[in-house]
Amino acid sequence: VSEFPAPDRPAASRRGFLAAAAGAMAGVGAEFALRNSADAATTNVPTSRPAESTVEPFFGPRQGGILTPLQNHTYFAAFDLTAAHREDVVELLQTWTTAAARLAAGLPAETISKDIDQPAADTGETMGLPPSRLTITFGFGPGLFIKQGKDRYGLASRRPPALIDLPAFSGDQLVQAKTGGDLSIQACADDPQVAFHAVRQLSRLAYDSAQLRWAQTGFLPSFAKGQTPRNLLGFKDGTNNPATTNSAAMEKFVFIGDEGPAWMRGGSYLVMRKIRLALEHWDRMNVKFQEQTLGRQKYAGAPLNGKNEFDAVDVNAVDKDGNAIYPDTSHVSLANPANNNGARILRRPYSYNDGVNFTSERWPPWRQGMEYDAGLLFISYQRDVRSSFVPMFDKMSKLDMLNQFATHVGGGFFAIPRGVSEGQWIGQGLFEKV
Ligand code: HEM
Repeated sequence: VSEFPAPDRPAASRRGFLAAAAGAMAGVGAEFALRNSADAATTNVPTSRPAESTVEPFFGPRQGGILTPLQNHTYFAAFDLTAAHREDVVELLQTWTTAAARLAAGLPAETISKDIDQPAADTGETMGLPPSRLTITFGFGPGLFIKQGKDRYGLASRRPPALIDLPAFSGDQLVQAKTGGDLSIQACADDPQVAFHAVRQLSRLAYDSAQLRWAQTGFLPSFAKGQTPRNLLGFKDGTNNPATTNSAAMEKFVFIGDEGPAWMRGGSYLVMRKIRLALEHWDRMNVKFQEQTLGRQKYAGAPLNGKNEFDAVDVNAVDKDGNAIYPDTSHVSLANPANNNGARILRRPYSYNDGVNFTSERWPPWRQGMEYDAGLLFISYQRDVRSSFVPMFDKMSKLDMLNQFATHVGGGFFAIPRGVSEGQWIGQGLFEKV
């Protein structure tokens, strides 16, 4: 499906777009179910590739990009609202919804006119590219509801209690200019240019009402179907996620139920943390120490108490002499549900690489010099951070052996509204009179 003008083909009509998009989406729905069930036995990370379609559905009770099998690339952007009035925010969200649905279907952001005396309705860098399983996930930060004590849009009383101001955590080195935001957009796609393009179009359409605060690219390896991607520490990451095919677990741990306002039911809460990893330091550690730090075997990806990647984690396991197998301060030990009142989160992590920087390490041997500015974009979805991410990370930030190698330098916390059906716009219920 392409609406870009081609010499031999007139631009498709709006009706053509809707039919094409609906067709593509219906096809994807059926295929999607099949794909997920085929994978359920082998992996807990959403890893599979579509056979025929490169379109992920935009419309539905849940936003795309949460349960969607991981795409290879992400472009995450946070915006500050500059709009003076509530109506301008409504208009922005309406425009964004329409454009995002088009982009996900592989269409230009808006219908292209042949009038070359006007700026183009789409910047054009995805001409000729497939939709690449693009998903666009919108989020609302605390600043949409109240900012510096000001109720700019009359929404303060509608702020969900679960959208807390995250506490400061031990060791946080968050750079303010790269933290927070009133709105977030995460574009994920199998092609980096498709992901960048999506954010660029939405940012362009927001010219008069919001501006970019920070943005971050991330990537994953081109892992084979059924495999778990490795992060820059060289470890498989995502193995012990709750399975996205387990809808009971997703309802319990990820999606908002009756406890939330109607516009959030079927939505979630997103924590994003940009975590710099001291790769030079890590690379000098022996493998056994790395395994003790994370609480996982490096090569097999198996738990310390098992042999194969998907063997069950038992953080209380002991060896034949009765000694604990997991250090109390290993990453997995601190993160496991057994030590978190059963809490679970759905991680959807990407790696990032921002080149090199002059860096002073925070841990022995306190190296100073040019080091990688690379690491992990920790992205997690959970139903309520107050009983999951916050207590879990509070403990980790103080005790995790991984802290010697990890510095949190930015990120944000966003309410992810429920998905929309055609004709609706993102966050609509939040703005409607009760
Ligand atoms: C420093 C950056 C981080 C890296 C490199 C990292 C890496 C890993 C790896 C390799 C695993 C084991 C494989 C797996 O089950 O996925 C894991 C597990 C896990 N991580 Fe992280 N992680 C990081 C930060 C975090 C943070 C900030 C949290 C949440 C507060 C977190 C929560 C979890 C959870 C819940 C598990 C599963 C534990 C289990 O039950 O087995 N991680 N992580």
